[in-house]
Amino acid sequence: MLKICCIGAGYVGGPTMAMIAKKCPDVEVTVVDVNERRIAAWQSDDLPIYEPGLDEVVKEALGRNLFFSTDIDRAIRAADVIFVSVNTPTKTFGAGAGCAADLQYWELCARRIREVAESDKIVVEKSTLPVRTAEAMERVLHAGDHGAHFEVLSNPEFLAEGTAMADLENPDRVLIGGHDTPSGRKALQTLVDVYAQWIPRERILTTNVWSAELSKLTANAFLAQRVSSINAISALCEATEADVSEVAHAIGTDSRIGPKFLRASIGFGGSCFKKDILNLVYLCESYGLKEPADYWRQVVLMNAYQESRFVTKMLRSMFNTMAGKRIAVFGFAFKADTGDTRESPAIRVCRQLLDERAAVTICDPKALDNARMELGDAAERVRFELDPYKACEGAHAIALLTEWTQFKELDYERIYASMEKPAFVFDGRNILDHQALYDLGFEVYSVGKALKSHYVS
Ligand code: NAD
Ligand code: UGA
Repeated sequence: MLKICCIGAGYVGGPTMAMIAKKCPDVEVTVVDVNERRIAAWQSDDLPIYEPGLDEVVKEALGRNLFFSTDIDRAIRAADVIFVSVNTPTKTFGAGAGCAADLQYWELCARRIREVAESDKIVVEKSTLPVRTAEAMERVLHAGDHGAHFEVLSNPEFLAEGTAMADLENPDRVLIGGHDTPSGRKALQTLVDVYAQWIPRERILTTNVWSAELSKLTANAFLAQRVSSINAISALCEATEADVSEVAHAIGTDSRIGPKFLRASIGFGGSCFKKDILNLVYLCESYGLKEPADYWRQVVLMNAYQESRFVTKMLRSMFNTMAGKRIAVFGFAFKADTGDTRESPAIRVCRQLLDERAAVTICDPKALDNARMELGDAAERVRFELDPYKACEGAHAIALLTEWTQFKELDYERIYASMEKPAFVFDGRNILDHQALYDLGFEVYSVGKALKSHYVS
């Protein structure tokens, strides 16, 4: 029986390993983490992350061929294949602070593996890493006088939160990079055989290690670039009365452009887009490639502009003062169908609203706990409310920041009646029925669309 160990039981390690265990009953999967609470939660009825469909998959395999443990050394020793799925955040200190990836967690894992392993291992980079990290890892793993051989593969993960289970079950592709050596080819085949148990072989792409590493950063950079591109156009739409949804549809029907990832918004969030682009920028700079670095950095700058533009619009339309005004913030997660708030645009938007001394009430079906943590000390000045109707009582404005379906289905007539007048809606995701809201009496602001106001002609 093939034994897999995964170090890191987070948003990637948990779901990916649960899917492998579900699809490959003949493979034993153990997920380990230093975080005891997380490991306990994975074995409880209250999983540490919210992801549609995840509970069922974990339940099916847990205790059969899926195990969670804090005994990292034991799992490493027993494993044939070790996935490393630890966090790789942006470095906050020293050289490259604010741009480079912080690789200390990956390196700690590599050192641990070398220290405790008693036999040959395939070590798989699941975390998103700078290109050529595998080279450094091989050096760490083989440093000293270790009898065992470690074959490093790169198998970046492309799942998106909120759709992780569908993405894992039916991915566009699985990418595996390995060395073109006898042991590299053998290791690569071992991993291909795992995925081939449910993924058509033609969707399992094999490349050299560096291409796999760089493809992950490139995919995220291209996706984020599309969001920044349409957001840049949304600003121009607002100045010209063009409608960004119509523009997105018109260009998206060109098969060379395609319709996806063209939703204008308050900006992209999530733990990875910004961090991975900055990582790419840093890589370009380290190879002396200033123009490519500047090109990609602009995607991140555009995103920050879009966030602050939204708050500026709120301030200007609410007569240049929000002090003491109650704002109901609809949604804090960085996107719908997840409780994840990492790098959510809502963090910056809420902080700016608090700077304006607005009285902020945050309403989110899954992210209130994370929102509280994310805002730190500022959370003391915020109300958290699960019920959107209560959040709106006496409010001057609604700021919709996450595209949860339930926000579309509310009784806005009831909400309008309970709000201060004039009542404003700022739809940062363009998901509401703007004409219907306007007809109810709301002042309606969206992203990249003409203002619907009862007062401005
Ligand atoms: P996460 O923070 O949710 O999980 C990482 C886990 O690793 C944590 O639970 C942490 O305790 C654990 N960990 C850290 N150091 C450890 C060590 N030395 N030993 C044991 N456990 C350790 O992060 P995540 O969102 O799962 O992301 C992991 C990697 O996957 C990152 O590189 C990220 O860029 C990449 N990625 C994330 C997503 C996503 O949707 N979140 C998608 C694709 C790729
Ligand atoms: C993204 C990628 O889509 C995944 O392929 C990748 O594996 C992952 O990053 C990662 O490496 O972590 P994720 O961040 O979970 O996934 O979610 P996305 O659906 O990509 O959305 C990212 C952000 O962009 C969200 O804030 C979303 O609201 C925003 N977005 C997305 C838009 O504003 N407009 C769009 O048209 C699409």
